[in-house]
Amino acid sequence: MDKNYVRIFDTTLRDGEQSPGASLTSAEKLEIARQLAKLGVDIIEAGFPAASPDDLEAVRRIAQDVGNARDGSRPPVIAGLARANKDDIDKAWDAVRHAAHPRIHTFLATSDIHLKYKLKMTREQVVARVSEMVAYARALCDDIEFSPEDAGRSDPEYLCEVLEVAIEAGATTLNIPDTVGYTTPEEFGGLIEGLIKNTRGSEKAVFSVHCHNDLGMATANSLAGLRAGARQAEVTINGIGERAGNTSLEEIVMTLKTRPAVFGLYTGIDATQITRTSKMVSNYTGMPVQPNKAIVGANAFAHEAGIHQDGMLKNQMTYEIMRPESVGLSASQLVLGKHSGRHALKSRLIELGYALSDTDLDKAFARFKEVADKKKYITDADLEALIADEFYQPNEVFRLEDIQVVCGRHGMPTATVRLIGPEGLDKTIAAIGTGPVDATYKAIDAIVGAPNTLLEFNIHAVTEGIDALGEVTVRLHADGDDTHTYGGHGADSDIIVASAKAYLSALNKLVTAQLTPRMHAQHSTLELERV
Ligand code: KIV
Ligand code: ZN
Repeated sequence: MDKNYVRIFDTTLRDGEQSPGASLTSAEKLEIARQLAKLGVDIIEAGFPAASPDDLEAVRRIAQDVGNARDGSRPPVIAGLARANKDDIDKAWDAVRHAAHPRIHTFLATSDIHLKYKLKMTREQVVARVSEMVAYARALCDDIEFSPEDAGRSDPEYLCEVLEVAIEAGATTLNIPDTVGYTTPEEFGGLIEGLIKNTRGSEKAVFSVHCHNDLGMATANSLAGLRAGARQAEVTINGIGERAGNTSLEEIVMTLKTRPAVFGLYTGIDATQITRTSKMVSNYTGMPVQPNKAIVGANAFAHEAGIHQDGMLKNQMTYEIMRPESVGLSASQLVLGKHSGRHALKSRLIELGYALSDTDLDKAFARFKEVADKKKYITDADLEALIADEFYQPNEVFRLEDIQVVCGRHGMPTATVRLIGPEGLDKTIAAIGTGPVDATYKAIDAIVGAPNTLLEFNIHAVTEGIDALGEVTVRLHADGDDTHTYGGHGADSDIIVASAKAYLSALNKLVTAQLTPRMHAQHSTLELERV
């Protein structure tokens, strides 16, 4: 491997999924993993198999499917997380061993705070446990990553001792996490430099950085670590993750690409897949991307101020350091209209990277025609929203068959909703609410019967213009269980229909989870931390 090559280790499906409210179904995880492979990530951390049987099964499916390329290309490494105990390691191995290139990622905290209060172990006990568990994992799998959790607040001398033992026991990657997002770039870069220099055998392993964003320095810290010699960056799409999140993939990749003279490093990422991956993760998790987010925010390439627009018209380089196309934002605006046929739609979707089967293309074409009847021009952004609405949805327990809404200033907002559900259910109910969305949600609640609290409701227009498609994302949790949040999304030219679809999308996840209660174990175990 070239010494300037940086491996991208994506942990959207593990650390990202630990974001408050970002629970994903197995089918969604598989779709995201497929997209991550298209994006060109080197390693996918597919989950934490010991967290629940469902998590183990999701990692196994990803290992079997995405971890084995059928087209002769090199599939990504599939990693599973395990605490430093035999049971976790066995479960991780059971899940990832189906991949062509499996990896077990095991971790144990090394900071005095964690040792004293969480693990109740001495430094010597931790060293012994690391040696034993890394060797145990290595006997199962050739590719072992070890992380000293809370390395950012650990004694560097002690860290060298632990890492040395991990290398001797067979670790091939040493990941240095700033678990609580506490360090500064100077400190973190210095830490990595010192560890590489002072750990005996460090040349036998790849050093990796894993930063959290509690003080807004995750990207800067990761870059400082790469400059200091680390050659793997652990990242998530849109920077989602525990608390303030993880280092974001798009920021690391585009910084290395845009500033080669500063870093002299490169990755294997196909940056044109960044926008699509970002949208998919946002839609599936129900977590909107803030408009001013670097690279993937809606405003990241928008030039509003007159003086900027004037400069841009004269030469794009005046205010643009990256081309929008380089991250997969389409330059073309006016794409298709109501006279465009199935073939034109198919070609445009292929250009956008969607190779649909004939049956799916029929569905996409029907949706396209429906929208084209109401909207003069269908842009790439519209097509992406329609595809997400049609194909990136959870298991459809309840389906919206029809909806009629009456509202205005003086009447009582009323919604009549017809849903098709399990076991032949076909029910129509009318409800009154404080507004049309409230009435719609009350009618849906009356049919679905899953008491819940709506935490977030976001609506935005996909494009400019009065005829724009509306895209809605919601997040909710079941009453009596605020530890599991379900996100949903929907798009339609009618914003009430989009709102109904988004709500049903989240409710379908909630209902599916209640039907398979094992899913509920998913997020809880990392907190326990008992080894
Ligand atoms: O932040 C962290 O310490 C982690 C480890 C499990 C690598 O996510
Ligand atoms: Zn983390």
